[in-house]
Amino acid sequence: MRLVPLPDAQAASIWVAHYIAGRIQRFQPTKDRPFVLGLPTGGTPVPVYAELVRLYREGKLSFAHVVSFNMDEYIGLPTGHPQSYRTFMHEHLFDQVDMLPENINFLDSNTEDPQQECARYEQAMSDVGGVELFFGGVGRDGHIAFNEPGSSLSSRTRIKTLTPGTIQANARFFDQEEELVPVRALTVGVGTILDAREVVILATGSQKSLAVERLVEGAVSHMWPLSALQLHPKTLVVCDEDATMDLKVRTLRYFQKIEEES
Ligand code: PGA
Repeated sequence: MRLVPLPDAQAASIWVAHYIAGRIQRFQPTKDRPFVLGLPTGGTPVPVYAELVRLYREGKLSFAHVVSFNMDEYIGLPTGHPQSYRTFMHEHLFDQVDMLPENINFLDSNTEDPQQECARYEQAMSDVGGVELFFGGVGRDGHIAFNEPGSSLSSRTRIKTLTPGTIQANARFFDQEEELVPVRALTVGVGTILDAREVVILATGSQKSLAVERLVEGAVSHMWPLSALQLHPKTLVVCDEDATMDLKVRTLRYFQKIEEES
């Protein structure tokens, strides 16, 4: 695991955006060999997407040969709902860069057959050669995508019921009205994320510090699903100072020293 501690959320977000941009550039994607990127929604990635858009506008980055797979989607929101993750992604990233519509993948949560839809999504990732980099945020309760505490650490794409804590946290996107937040979602599984060749996690704010502590110092446990990333050979965790508050000073200093020397 690589942990990059940075002073504040802005610095951490810019760092992640530049890291992703660098990975895409170095990969030199083509139509036949696209860069496959897993993407999150939520508050955390917003400044990352803003910086990626800026890099695109400056001509430093192209998404023409990037294939995206979003992590999850609420069940029960009509297509085009302002809080659907599809709407979010178009607003914050896809409509502002040169992504090709056919390269954008979402889970269709309005399908009649969710199980078949989840299988289709897994197959689509596999057909395009697997995910090169999965970028994700962190839930306060340690969820990753919508894999809530208690999720199987080998789970694949499926339906999940959100915890009351996640519904409460996400109510901020629904005028603070918890009853408007969908209670179920389709989400990639922990196993799906572990299949990516690299996982990049951005955690900002003190509300994420316990989850970061469990990720970095805790034991692997399905009650903190993101701790499964300890089993991944290439996990990169980028944090602001607030998100590192629950780490031991010793742990933090160790990772800081590595970054200073690299
Ligand atoms: P947030 O959500 O970025 O809005 O805090 C993260 C998550 O729930 O994974």
